[in-house]
Amino acid sequence: MGTIPEQKPHAVMVPYPAQGHVNPMMKLAKILYSKGFHITFVNTEFNHKRLLRSRGPHALDGLPDFHYETIPDGLPPSDADATQHVPSLCHSTSTTCFDPFMKLLGRLQSSASGDHVPPVTCVVSDGIMTFSLRAANALGIPSVLFWTASACGFVGYAQYRSLVDQGLVPLKDESCLTNGFLETKVDWIPGIDNLRLRDIPSFIRTTDPDDIMLNFFIGQLKAAHEATMIIINTFDLFEQNSLQYLSSIYSPPIFTVGPLPLILELTPHNHKLMSSIGSNLWKEDTHCLQWLDSQEPSSVFYVNYGSITTMAADQLAEFAWGLAGSKCQFLWVVRPDLVESRSVIFSKEFKEETEGRGLIVSWCSQEQVLNHPAVGGFLTHCGWNSTIESVRAGKPVVCWPFFAEQQTNCRYACVEWGIGMEVGPVMEGSSEKGKEMKEKALEWKRKAEAATRPGGSSYQNLEKVLDMLLKNFN
Ligand code: UDX
Repeated sequence: MGTIPEQKPHAVMVPYPAQGHVNPMMKLAKILYSKGFHITFVNTEFNHKRLLRSRGPHALDGLPDFHYETIPDGLPPSDADATQHVPSLCHSTSTTCFDPFMKLLGRLQSSASGDHVPPVTCVVSDGIMTFSLRAANALGIPSVLFWTASACGFVGYAQYRSLVDQGLVPLKDESCLTNGFLETKVDWIPGIDNLRLRDIPSFIRTTDPDDIMLNFFIGQLKAAHEATMIIINTFDLFEQNSLQYLSSIYSPPIFTVGPLPLILELTPHNHKLMSSIGSNLWKEDTHCLQWLDSQEPSSVFYVNYGSITTMAADQLAEFAWGLAGSKCQFLWVVRPDLVESRSVIFSKEFKEETEGRGLIVSWCSQEQVLNHPAVGGFLTHCGWNSTIESVRAGKPVVCWPFFAEQQTNCRYACVEWGIGMEVGPVMEGSSEKGKEMKEKALEWKRKAEAATRPGGSSYQNLEKVLDMLLKNFN
């Protein structure tokens, strides 16, 4: 990479406004910042307020050359619940955010003549915020599409158009969900033969041709063709076949730059300064880390369903009894809004049964938890960040996919990568299978480390991305 000139390159970064998207975008922002970029991080007004609440009023004052801007998410301000309702948020961002974002870009460009804001070098658009890609293209600014989920998930979404054209989706009727139809093989993707309809991202499970999510993803995947380049939070060895296939259907070059947590760790930066910039929308419990310190190595089973999953009260009760019956130590993260339309209550029997061996908190610093030596396994909903953070920590997973491409991630974790098994009667896991998963998880951890070290594929790809972005920069 060439030396960075005095006037800084300027990346405008636009995450989808949900925790699982803001986190990886923030990591990428910190990496670019450490490489000498001026950063404008664009939150929705709603999330910006949440960040201020969870991190304190001065948390977002920013660093020199790291600024926040906001745009409205398009949802009625009175309807806070809608921000956790994925179809509402996808619909509103894709239909209302283009204009305010264009205005913001215009303002950034016009203030560029001032001392503090250099001209915009590139827009980094979340894979499902492609209005920002359109805006960048309209102004002739290079655009990076950042796909924050897995490459295998990307492949799954890329089938939506073809599934509709083949008449397989929308489903004929509700019975298709239970009559074996979802076992149909998806056998037309070159290089990929392990998928069934049930492993394709879950928004195909609709009978409505006008379904918001089905059509939203068809639109977003089409828009990705317009990007200057595509980057993915994964690494080559991990998702070779999916990446090869994606490169065959997309003309923008595709670069793997993950696992981002590792890349960030290895990028020289001022840790203290950087840790002042956070992206947690919930307030973290820190007591659980002290609790983990007091536990034996690999003795604690960690359970977390990410930031969006919800479940019925009886499902939560099943998990509770599974954990009680497993007789193992556990750290269980139960968000206050996890149970649909009521607050979470645990029975007296459950509390007595698990006293002294279980800790329940509402939100934690997941990366610290996963990397803690006391944690031996992870029951996850298979969100991509959770999956890749687990790979980075070398911990095996028990999978309980909820929605979106989590079904695809689950399939790969269990069948391709050998690091996981599906939840069910196997909650405790046979010791033989558990041992194999643990070994595989450590093997992938080593490979992820190799990919992110100097000379590794993700390390080199990041250099290439920077070279491309700075090519026309003077
Ligand atoms: C999801 C997934 O990214 C993806 O499967 C889907 O496309 C839609 O969005 P989410 O369900 O929140 O996001 O899961 P995940 O991708 O695992 O992201 C959650 C993030 O929050 C992780 O970075 C995790 O470390 C963090 N987290 C979660 C915490 O820091 N503490 C917690 O207690 C829980």
